Amino acid sequence: MTPASPVSRTSTPRLVLRPPEPADRAGVFALYADPRVLARDPLLTRHTDEAQTARMIDAWSAAWQRDGMGTWVATLRDPDDDDAGVVGIGGCSIVQGSWWNLGFRLAPRHWGRGCARELAAAAVAAARLVRPDLPVTARLLETNVPSRRTVEGAGLQLRWRGPDAGNPGPGAVRLVHADRELPSSVLELLTRA
Ligand SMILES: CC(C)(COP(=O)(O)OP(=O)(O)OC[C@H]1O[C@@H](n2cnc3c(N)ncnc32)[C@H](O)[C@@H]1OP(=O)(O)O)[C@@H](O)C(=O)NCCC(=O)NCCS
Repeated sequence: MTPASPVSRTSTPRLVLRPPEPADRAGVFALYADPRVLARDPLLTRHTDEAQTARMIDAWSAAWQRDGMGTWVATLRDPDDDDAGVVGIGGCSIVQGSWWNLGFRLAPRHWGRGCARELAAAAVAAARLVRPDLPVTARLLETNVPSRRTVEGAGLQLRWRGPDAGNPGPGAVRLVHADRELPSSVLELLTRA
């Protein structure tokens, strides 16, 4: 059941954003099984079985119920006949009761059209409406230029740059962005493996 939340359903110029539903499983699985999406985000676990996707959607639904904001599924506002499915996912999720994490991933067929920019701006606005007391943060690898431009476009600034703890790739650099100065306790947790 979709919880009553002022931000549970919204739209941007191109997208409709709403909480996930069980029927989204195949579309979300296609996203999480796509090696092109994984290549841009090596920390993502590639899905090989729709049961993994179903568990993830259940966890997203639980976050919506608990926090009143979480991960949206994005579809096109004006789909053509061939593209009524899942464009991507993203939103802000509360981590350890202490900060929002901004995240997003879109199907490659929609890259480069400004969809991530729209989704990220909506997500930051929603998080600020629901829990303005919590900082909005994003963690990304320095090599992920589209992601960095997206979070910076949504108003987050670079707060930390350093080695990506736990990353087997030599020299991997982690960036932490946030909409405000972060307490050292939060920064420490964000920069752990
Ligand atoms: C990151 C991602 C969501 C961007 O989606 P997108 O819809 O193509 O992004 P947009 O078209 O909205 O562009 C957002 C910004 O990224 C820039 N950008 C997009 N693709 C780019 C590319 N290939 N190289 C450099 N910059 C790029 C855009 O110019 C824009 O910046 P600007 O507003 O300063 O001009 C998408 O590439 C993706 O899903 N990647 C895989 C998953 C991932 O990396 N998620 C983030 C994990 S932290």
